[in-house]
Amino acid sequence: MKLSLFSHEFHLNTIDGFQKIGRVVPFASSLLLIGIISLLIYHSSNNYKAMTSQQQYALTHQKQVPNHTHTGDNEECDIFKGHWIQDPNAYLYDNLSCPTLPDWKNCFKHGRKDREFVNWRWKPENCELPRFDAKAFLKIVQGKTMAFVGDSLARNHVESLLCLLSRELVPVQKGPEDEKSPTWYFPLYNFTLLKIWSPFLVKYKERIVNDNADLYLDEVDNKWAEKLPEIDYVIMSDNHWFFRKNYLYEHGNLIGCLHCGEQNLTDFEPHIALGKAFRTALGHINGCKGCKSIVTWVRTLSPGHFENGSWNAGGFCNRTRPFSEEELNVGGSYEMQLRKIQIEEVERARKEGTMAGNRFEILDITKLMFMRPDGHPNSHWHSHGVKGYNDCVHWCLPGPVDTWNDFLLAMLRKELNSTLKL
Ligand SMILES: *[C@@H]1O[C@H](CO)[C@@H](O)[C@H](O)[C@H]1NC(C)=O
Ligand SMILES: *[C@@H]1O[C@H](CO)[C@@H](O)[C@H](O)[C@H]1NC(C)=O
Ligand SMILES: *[C@@H]1O[C@H](CO)[C@@H](O)[C@H](O)[C@H]1NC(C)=O
Ligand SMILES: *[C@@H]1O[C@H](CO)[C@@H](O)[C@H](O)[C@H]1NC(C)=O
Ligand SMILES: *[C@@H]1O[C@H](CO)[C@@H](O)[C@H](O)[C@H]1NC(C)=O
Ligand SMILES: *[C@@H]1O[C@H](CO)[C@@H](O)[C@H](O)[C@H]1NC(C)=O
Ligand SMILES: *[C@@H]1O[C@H](CO)[C@@H](O)[C@H](O)[C@H]1NC(C)=O
Repeated sequence: MKLSLFSHEFHLNTIDGFQKIGRVVPFASSLLLIGIISLLIYHSSNNYKAMTSQQQYALTHQKQVPNHTHTGDNEECDIFKGHWIQDPNAYLYDNLSCPTLPDWKNCFKHGRKDREFVNWRWKPENCELPRFDAKAFLKIVQGKTMAFVGDSLARNHVESLLCLLSRELVPVQKGPEDEKSPTWYFPLYNFTLLKIWSPFLVKYKERIVNDNADLYLDEVDNKWAEKLPEIDYVIMSDNHWFFRKNYLYEHGNLIGCLHCGEQNLTDFEPHIALGKAFRTALGHINGCKGCKSIVTWVRTLSPGHFENGSWNAGGFCNRTRPFSEEELNVGGSYEMQLRKIQIEEVERARKEGTMAGNRFEILDITKLMFMRPDGHPNSHWHSHGVKGYNDCVHWCLPGPVDTWNDFLLAMLRKELNSTLKL
């Protein structure tokens, strides 16, 4: 059956095996079933990692507090450590005031009735996170070029930014249109914003469209690399596409595979490939000849929230409130392991990057988005009669994803301050 309605980008990260172990410990489960809805309903599902409930239990109850995340020079306040608090004025735009709001993320248009999820804002433990200020943002990025490099979650992030900026200025979209890699221009501020489609950061060739691919882990994806000399700010992400069947190459040689289960090939775990891809990508930024001094943020893994089944087995995400700290226990989850790898690669790049004048920072959203099972479209995203698939991966607009841009602005301000001090 053809499902051309689904965007090419659309893919769902599934957290399966949602089980209650004593109390509610939803994200302990690392039984991940990741699939892709592309043109065909379903090509293959790869049982990623089957764990016994005992293993899950062990992981859940082994309290792993992640080490303090470096967020810049300000050591007193880790803006990523805190909690969600209720605030009726939390959302800064709606589906009427944002002219660029994409249909897919317009959850209210598609019948979402509960509204509480837009009324929460992030409160860091030891300071305030200022709400997004479009004018302040545009002043900082005046004359600059910013690129979001990644998959459909990176797109989600840009879409939020566009809505937030539209309070001040609606950009001109530049043609010719590459649907997955659009460019916007903000004339008054001479600011250029790019979204560059690069689901692996490294070079890849698809064997089947939106499914099996060959990944060249030590070669960067030219799609973004060729643009790098124009770019001042990079927001880099990716992780979801590493959960499909992918063949891995290094030095041009096939070294193994993800989720193949082929006798003659070594099966790698996704975090190994992910780490190598980030190392290659960040290393390329540091080695770039003819580039400016670039500030790079790695946006850490954005978790999905399927409950009671995987994306293609009726899984849903209809909660209407955030999880509290007590309800969450993500310490031992595979997602947190992937996040850690991303952070380690940033730290490595940071050490190597100071010589080149580059800066590397972390947009550490994984844990705080784990707390937001209420932020996804769930069933409220498709309007043309395709039923049965819920989106518990992307985020409604407005919604908790807007916070990513509060962080971005806070970090840009800090960046600006540290440059001024030089
Ligand atoms: C946390 O950091 C400390 C000191 O930097 C180190 O000794 C420890 O092993 C780290 N713990 C983890 C879980 O990474
Ligand atoms: C906008 O959102 C409201 C709910 O806030 C909803 O009733 C309406 O249908 C939406 N309209 C459009 C055009 O998206
Ligand atoms: C816009 O910014 C670019 C640098 O990104 C600069 O080369 C160009 O001269 C600027 N144009 C105007 C009109 O200020
Ligand atoms: C591995 O085995 C499969 C069949 O199971 C075969 O199609 C493939 O070519 C083999 N790959 C290598 C590298 O030998
Ligand atoms: C969860 O799934 C099970 C089958 O796996 C089903 O019996 C149950 O009704 C589902 N629960 C909800 C709340 O849909
Ligand atoms: C979520 O959906 C399940 C299954 O349809 C239902 O049993 C449950 O009551 C719903 N929860 C909320 C909060 O709507
Ligand atoms: C940046 O510097 C200004 C002026 O010194 C100060 O008021 C502001 O708090 C600083 N912002 C950050 C994020 O450090």
